[in-house]
Amino acid sequence: MSIHIGAEPGQIAPYVLIPGDPLRAKWIAENFLEGAKLYSDVRGMLGYTGTYQGIEISAQGSGMGLPSFSIYCTELFKDYDVQSVIRVGSCGALQEDIKVRDVILAQGACTDSAMNRLRFEGIDFAPISDFELLRSAYDVGEAAGKPMHVGNIFSSDSFYNDRAELVSRAAEYGVLAVEMEAAALYTLAAKYDRKGLAICTVSDHIITGEETTSQERQESFGDMVEMALETIVS
Ligand code: HPA
Repeated sequence: MSIHIGAEPGQIAPYVLIPGDPLRAKWIAENFLEGAKLYSDVRGMLGYTGTYQGIEISAQGSGMGLPSFSIYCTELFKDYDVQSVIRVGSCGALQEDIKVRDVILAQGACTDSAMNRLRFEGIDFAPISDFELLRSAYDVGEAAGKPMHVGNIFSSDSFYNDRAELVSRAAEYGVLAVEMEAAALYTLAAKYDRKGLAICTVSDHIITGEETTSQERQESFGDMVEMALETIVS
């Protein structure tokens, strides 16, 4: 068992989907994974392993923000030898041509978190996704006719902040959306030589103020989970 995940070695699959909300991990297990079994409920951060089209896949909650995400992701890579992690989450759109419910494939992730500044002692590391996962996810989304956008996103450590100017500057530089975890995933995947990709559905639009209903969020979350699972098996 690792410090924050109560699984025995071998109970977690090489492929893991990580939603921020642990109840979404449960929902993935109940709706998409065959024979899913709970392997950890430490701190309520639920984790399950089951199969999708015969392939073992896990779903693990991470909590919100880079610090919480990093705890779970580090232990998955370091203690459970996980090979590929796909974050499945929501994001706020920063570009006019992006609509709520669209899918964002995060090619790279900027961050305001101090975590990478501390890790790299001031050097600006550029966290990027795994190209193979990105390409597969794009192919899966394209075949399904999903409205998708590929590019840079912004992983922030604060949901509530007074930095509207910073966010609009990021938008001016072509950043597609804001969320709170991808930069940590890409940095840790680089450290442990594993694969990472963040797929996010747009839950709200920072510029237009448009928001999704909880029903819409549930539906688009399901579509995204299917896309992530198909990416793994493709
Ligand atoms: N900020 C950060 N994360 C988010 C947002 C946001 O506005 N919307 C969805 N996830």
